[in-house]
Amino acid sequence: MTEQSGIVQDHWTREGVLARIDAVLLEMGHDPEAVTPEILSGVEHLHTGGLTTTQDQAEKLALGPDARVLDIGCGIGGPARYLAHTYGCRVDGVDLTPELLETGQVLTRRCGLEDKVTLQLGDALDLSFPDQSFDVVWCQNVTMNIADKAGFLGQVHRVLKPGGKFASTEYSTGPGGDIIYPVTWAYDPSTNFLDSEHEMRAQFADAGFRILDWTNYTGLAIERLAQARATPSKLANHLVFGEDTPERAGNGRKNMMEKRIIYWMITAERN
Ligand SMILES: C[S@@+](CC[C@H](N)C(=O)[O-])C[C@H]1O[C@@H](n2cnc3c(N)ncnc32)[C@H](O)[C@@H]1O
Repeated sequence: MTEQSGIVQDHWTREGVLARIDAVLLEMGHDPEAVTPEILSGVEHLHTGGLTTTQDQAEKLALGPDARVLDIGCGIGGPARYLAHTYGCRVDGVDLTPELLETGQVLTRRCGLEDKVTLQLGDALDLSFPDQSFDVVWCQNVTMNIADKAGFLGQVHRVLKPGGKFASTEYSTGPGGDIIYPVTWAYDPSTNFLDSEHEMRAQFADAGFRILDWTNYTGLAIERLAQARATPSKLANHLVFGEDTPERAGNGRKNMMEKRIIYWMITAERN
């Protein structure tokens, strides 16, 4: 593991994630051993807009039971389980952070999805899968932690079959000025590696991707953050990200409203 990967791993590690989720599940009257993606939906989609963002992104792909999907930076595996549960596809997930990955493995078993979803430790910059293994590579709210975008996109290209799709939600910098910290992915510049939209488009083209859809998702993301704030749930991302989540999410919303950052939903095809 590189020094940078270690810094990112530390950023996302809050020991006791599973115990906190279980305590809230019990409080809500659920059996933690018998959960479903529906029950977990409020806590397991660790990106802006949560489940609805996952649903919108998935609808842009023609996923079916024969598809092989790789979720890079899978967190606790919510999107991977959603895709397998909803579309019947087989999903591999890799993530850098053991605390999240191990939580995800337990939740996958409890959801009865281990035959379709496999989560393992791994670095986006050094994927262990053979060339041309996947029909779809999926990635949500991960690249803001990755400085080497060419290395990352090179790995995505390598593991995708020709004509395969890369589906990504990610932030760019915006015209509104410097980012206000802390945000969910960073307390300071040591884990924040946003580029401009212009740079991102060039990186995709240089890596051998054709853009099929490039949607500015910022307006919807702002709305959904406002909704989440108005109707707080006990089973939510703070159990994973920590007690300062409202402050970090609030800054994310302010950064978007002031156009300091832009949230994109991207579908690209591997040449
Ligand atoms: C905001 S969470 C998103 C998790 C998941 N994609 C989701 O939307 O539910 C960011 C995740 O990216 C992972 N991550 C960051 N850099 C990574 C890298 N180089 N390789 C693999 N995972 C990485 C972190 O460990 C963390 O779990």
